[in-house]
Amino acid sequence: MKVFEIVQGSTSLDGLRLAERPKPSAGPGQVLVRIRAVSLNYRDLAVVQGKYFGGAVPRNLIPLSDGAGEVEAVGDGVTAFAPGDRVVATFTQGSPPAALGSPLDGTLAEHVVFPESGLLKIPEHLSFEEAATLPCAGVTAWNALMEGKITRPGDTVLTLGTGGVSILALQIAKAAGARVIVTSSSDEKLARAKALGADATINYRRTPNWDQEVLALTSGRGADHIVEVGGAGTLPRSLHAVAQRGEIVLIGVLTPPSGDLNPHALMPKNATLRGVFVGDKPMFEALMRAIEVNRIHPVVDQVFDFESAPDAYRRLQSAQHFGKLVIRV
Ligand SMILES: NC(=O)c1ccc[n+]([C@@H]2O[C@H](COP(=O)([O-])OP(=O)(O)OC[C@H]3O[C@@H](n4cnc5c(N)ncnc54)[C@H](OP(=O)(O)O)[C@@H]3O)[C@@H](O)[C@H]2O)c1
Repeated sequence: MKVFEIVQGSTSLDGLRLAERPKPSAGPGQVLVRIRAVSLNYRDLAVVQGKYFGGAVPRNLIPLSDGAGEVEAVGDGVTAFAPGDRVVATFTQGSPPAALGSPLDGTLAEHVVFPESGLLKIPEHLSFEEAATLPCAGVTAWNALMEGKITRPGDTVLTLGTGGVSILALQIAKAAGARVIVTSSSDEKLARAKALGADATINYRRTPNWDQEVLALTSGRGADHIVEVGGAGTLPRSLHAVAQRGEIVLIGVLTPPSGDLNPHALMPKNATLRGVFVGDKPMFEALMRAIEVNRIHPVVDQVFDFESAPDAYRRLQSAQHFGKLVIRV
């Protein structure tokens, strides 16, 4: 079968190459999936560049965590799935949990074998391309808004940027009846966010003190939930923009530290800073129910052919995308 591999020790996109591997088969308790679509996350760029946890990959590794496809065969004892079922894989697999695409071989392959416990059925209204956007970015956005301080109708949610996590967070927040403020470096992307339901937008290049703008837009209250994908560089402004009893969900690592990071602002506001690392299978199941009931269609920026996988990585690196980048397998 055809796969892409990151060659051992890779530190750049040049380390990504097309390869052949034997087609796997399903053992007891396992499911063989014909992969149809995969999606990229910011993390996947870090893995091929040798910048992810642990540094460069220690062996030739099939990249990407997120994949959707159809069941081709099931092993002995599998009861939850049958050939023909449309499925999507969870970000981590097995026990103790390990993530696809590093350290485990990932989904950028024609076939992958998963344990039965590592798959969910895809709601009927979603395509393979849409379902493939969910295991990392979707579950992370769900965890951010629904598993700590729960987003309630009327809450204000602030999402930073318009990448995969933030746009899924916008869609989940709107389904929950929240008011959503979106920031971006691009007016064109902000217009697209408005079309998806964003209530207010801020261009963080033109308005570098976007925290002040968030306070102005909320009559001084601030945001109840902040989807903090920027990390160390944006956190000081998030600390300023968070509301009384609000929650900043620390997700991303996009920006380097800028000056002193003083957590003191949390104290008088009784606010919370919560770290999130994707989420577990029950969270993914809850997300799927929300997506099904609310007929949410995740936003796919562009779909690439399998052979053009390196171009998908390049677009991710350029940060020109809005929402998710997908490769059809
Ligand atoms: N903790 C976890 O479990 C977890 C899970 C998923 C992702 N992440 C992390 O979350 C971050 C986002 O991931 P992703 O997959 O959504 O990335 P992505 O699709 O590549 O999105 C990146 C977007 O972030 C925005 N951005 C960059 N610098 C910014 C800044 N200074 N202020 C505000 N926005 C900024 C840009 O939006 P505009 O183009 O609109 O300006 C950019 O397009 C990454 O650091 C990733 O590693 C963590």
